[in-house]
Amino acid sequence: MTAQIINGKAIAETTLTETKSLIDKRLAKGLRAPTLAVILLGADPASAIYVRNKRLACEKTGIRSLAYDLPASTSEAELLALIDKLNHDDEVDGILVQSPFPAHIEEKKIIETISASKDVDGFHAYNIGRLAVRQPTLRSCTPYGVIKLLQSTGIKLLGLDAVVVGVSNHVGRPMALELLLAGCTVTSCHRHTKSLQSHIERADIVVAAAGKPHLVKGEWIKPGAVVIDIGINRLADGSLCGDVEFATAKERAGWITPVPGGVGPMTVATLMQNTLTALELRESSLIPA
Ligand code: GUN
Repeated sequence: MTAQIINGKAIAETTLTETKSLIDKRLAKGLRAPTLAVILLGADPASAIYVRNKRLACEKTGIRSLAYDLPASTSEAELLALIDKLNHDDEVDGILVQSPFPAHIEEKKIIETISASKDVDGFHAYNIGRLAVRQPTLRSCTPYGVIKLLQSTGIKLLGLDAVVVGVSNHVGRPMALELLLAGCTVTSCHRHTKSLQSHIERADIVVAAAGKPHLVKGEWIKPGAVVIDIGINRLADGSLCGDVEFATAKERAGWITPVPGGVGPMTVATLMQNTLTALELRESSLIPA
């Protein structure tokens, strides 16, 4: 069997077009466009590319983008003061601070300071908690994007065995919650898991989010399984690869995402959708400030 490729780039474009059309409808009614503030600290080249893609997606969808490109030496107090100002600005709907952060800034403190109602990354404990109790509001972008990729295959998720590799706060944990919400039987694997192989071998859905190149071997994939690779790792020769051995996994899986061009574009598209959702939720007072 050779897997069908899940074209994340194309599916992301559809999501962007849908979001743009909803924003155009608002504008036609005389309502304002959503606004996203993106804060970048320092000059990490990978972060600069991610942020550029987010700002380009704002342009494409008609979201007003506020750029805060700050030096890596920005103090935690200065960053917290900026977030506080944006939290209180009624014209700002989404606030995102691109990670990784400089070592002197505590990420947890920054995430918890961003108002839950403007947390378009879906990282705040409030938003993760909403997902956990089956009342999602602002959903973590990458996991929610993965759900849309899974839905694009037309496969019914209810009752499927899903294995998530990786338990990070931003990706692995909300991913497991999203799959649970979709009715899957979910297993989370991590560094203490006794036999990763034995879990992968019985999975109908494998979501790899460990950040370890080629951790998931192609020969472990159950024939016909859906394989979603969230990992994006740079090898010594400069090339990019995922957490899954793509070439061999592709020969066994039913569906598979490529790296790059799979999950990455969906994260950005979902961020745009979340920014519009944040504005709508605040307008309808459905989310506490
Ligand atoms: N760094 C890498 N991916 C992300 C993301 O989705 N959001 C933020 N804030 N930082 C990131």
